Amino acid sequence: MCISSWAVAATSLTGFSGALVTRNCTQVVPGEYLGTPFESHLEILNRSSEKAWFKIRDPTGQHVCESDLESDLSLLTFSYLNSSGQRPLYEKIKRLVIVAHGARRNSHDYHNQMLHALSLVDHPDINPDTVAVVSPYLPVDFDIGIGYPDPNDPQVASRALVRFFDRWLIQRYAAMTKSPEELGVDTPITYYVGNPNSLLWFDESRSMSTGNCSETWNYWREGLPNYMNYDVENSGEMIYKVELAQAGPKAILANYNSKSIAHGRATRDRSDFKEIYDCAVYTTGKDGSERFLEFLKRFPATSETMFESEAGRTRLFLDNWDGDGSRAFDFGYPRIQAGDDPHPDPALAGGPLAEVDYAVYAGGMTWRGCWSDVDEAQTVVTFPDEPLYRGNLLTRDYCAEVCAAAGFAIAGMNGSKCFCANALGYQAAPVVSTSCTLASPANASQTCGGPSRLMILAADGVELWDLLGSL
Ligand SMILES: *[C@@H]1O[C@H](CO)[C@@H](O)[C@H](O)[C@H]1NC(C)=O
Ligand SMILES: *[C@@H]1O[C@H](CO)[C@@H](O)[C@H](O)[C@H]1NC(C)=O
Ligand SMILES: *[C@@H]1O[C@H](CO)[C@@H](O)[C@H](O)[C@H]1NC(C)=O
Ligand SMILES: *[C@@H]1O[C@H](CO)[C@@H](O)[C@H](O)[C@H]1NC(C)=O
Ligand SMILES: *[C@@H]1O[C@H](CO)[C@@H](O)[C@H](O)[C@H]1NC(C)=O
Ligand SMILES: *[C@@H]1O[C@H](CO)[C@@H](O)[C@H](O)[C@H]1NC(C)=O
Repeated sequence: MCISSWAVAATSLTGFSGALVTRNCTQVVPGEYLGTPFESHLEILNRSSEKAWFKIRDPTGQHVCESDLESDLSLLTFSYLNSSGQRPLYEKIKRLVIVAHGARRNSHDYHNQMLHALSLVDHPDINPDTVAVVSPYLPVDFDIGIGYPDPNDPQVASRALVRFFDRWLIQRYAAMTKSPEELGVDTPITYYVGNPNSLLWFDESRSMSTGNCSETWNYWREGLPNYMNYDVENSGEMIYKVELAQAGPKAILANYNSKSIAHGRATRDRSDFKEIYDCAVYTTGKDGSERFLEFLKRFPATSETMFESEAGRTRLFLDNWDGDGSRAFDFGYPRIQAGDDPHPDPALAGGPLAEVDYAVYAGGMTWRGCWSDVDEAQTVVTFPDEPLYRGNLLTRDYCAEVCAAAGFAIAGMNGSKCFCANALGYQAAPVVSTSCTLASPANASQTCGGPSRLMILAADGVELWDLLGSL
C-alpha cells in the first residue's frame, strides 16, 4: 500500500474528525464517508463517480468537535467508483489523486477530466481500481443557494469552510502546508500545481511594474504580508502553521521548495483578465500564460500542460508508481521561448523555438520579442498614442522601414499600427512571445503584437529597458 498524492496533505490539514451521527469525536481515517449530504447544483459528469460527503474539522479551530459537536463541517467531494461501480477497496489503492479546482469552483469538471486522464494511461496496473481520484468542492461566499445551502446551518457547510478555502489554490496550499514528516506520513506526496502565477509571489519584486497598483498591492492574493490577519473578522484567528507564516516570504518559499512539486501549464484556460483593480496585470502579466512564465522565471521550476497531456498523466499517475522515486523527464517541447523550461528532455535538446525571427530589417533592426503595453502608452514613449503609420501595408519589414526612415531605432507593432521610438517606456517589460497574437495586415504568417502588447524590433546595440534585469 503506497498512497502518493499532493492532496493527501489536504485531508490531513483539515483533519477528519468525528461522525455527526454518533457524536463521536474520534478521528476517522480517510475513506470513511461520514458527512451530512447537502443540496448543490454540481452535476455528476462521469457515471463512474459519485458525490460523497466527508466530515472534517472546522479549519479555523473555533468549532472542533470537542467544544462544539454541531459545528464540524461537511465537505462535498466528487469521488470515483472502482471498475465494479462501487466504492474502491482501500487495500487495492496504490495512489491517491486529489484534484482541487480553480477559481470557478467547478470541481465536477475537474473530476471528470481527471477520470478521463486516468482512462488514457496505458499501463496494466494503473486504473480506477488502483488509483483513487477525489475532487473536493471548495465554495466561496457567493455560491450560497447554488453550491450549498444556508452556511449558518451547522449541519452542512459553514461560513468558516467557505472563507478558509477562498483562494487556497493548491499552489498556496503547497506553500503553507506541513512537510510529510510533520504530517506523519511516510508515503511520497507530490503537489501538482496548474498555472502557478501571481496569486502567490514570494517576494516584493515583480517582473513588470507596481506603478499602477494600490498600496496594498502586495497583500494576500498577490503577495503574503497580511497572511496572518487575512479575513480575521470572518474566519477567526489563523491557527495553522503560524510560525511559518510569521517567518515571512523567504521561509514560505523554502517550505514550498522543500516539497515535490510539478508545475502544469494550462494552454486553453489562460484565465485572461485585465481589470483595473487587478494589479497582476501590471505586475506579472495580463493572463495566466504570461504570469505562469513570469512566475517560473522568477521562481524556476518546470513547465508542462495539464491533466490529459502526456506530461500531466506522467506526473499524476506514472511518476514514482512503485515508490522508488522514479520520475520521467520534464516535458516542454517545442519551446515557446527560451527559458520556458530549464529541465528539458535531453533527447530533445536543440529543438526549435515556437517563435524565431533572425531576419535583419531596415535600419539593422532585429526581432526583440513581445512586450507589455498595458495602458497603450507605457511601451513606446515617443508617440504614445499615435502610430507613425497605420494601415493595411503593415508587416515587420514595413514598420522597420517607416521607423528607420524617420530616424528611429525602435519599431513597435500592433495589428495595423506601427509606433516608432528611441527608448521604451519605463513600465515596459518583455513577455512570452505567444502573447503577441495579431497577424500583420499584409503578412498573415507573421504576428504583430496583440491586446496590450507590442511586438518590438530594435536596431543593433539598442538596449531595451528590462525592469527585472535592472534590479
Ligand atoms: C468512538 O469511536 C471509536 C472508534 O469507532 C470507538 O472505539 C469508541 O468506543 C467510540 N466512543 C464512543 C463514546 O462512542
Ligand atoms: C470494487 O470495490 C468493492 C468494494 O466496495 C469490491 O468488493 C470490489 O472487489 C472492487 N472491485 C474491483 C475490481 O476492485
Ligand atoms: C469516466 O471515468 C472512467 C474511469 O472511471 C473512464 O474510464 C471513462 O473514460 C470516463 N468517461 C468519460 C466519458 O470520460
Ligand atoms: C497607469 O499609469 C499610467 C502612468 O502613470 C497612467 O497614465 C494610467 O492611466 C494608469 N492606468 C490605470 C488603469 O490606472
Ligand atoms: C492593439 O490592437 C488591439 C486590436 O486592435 C487593441 O485592442 C489594442 O488596444 C492595441 N494595443 C495597442 C498597444 O495599440
Ligand atoms: C511573411 O512572414 C514570414 C514570417 O515572418 C516571413 O518568413 C516571410 O518572408 C514574410 N513574407 C513577406 C512577403 O514578407
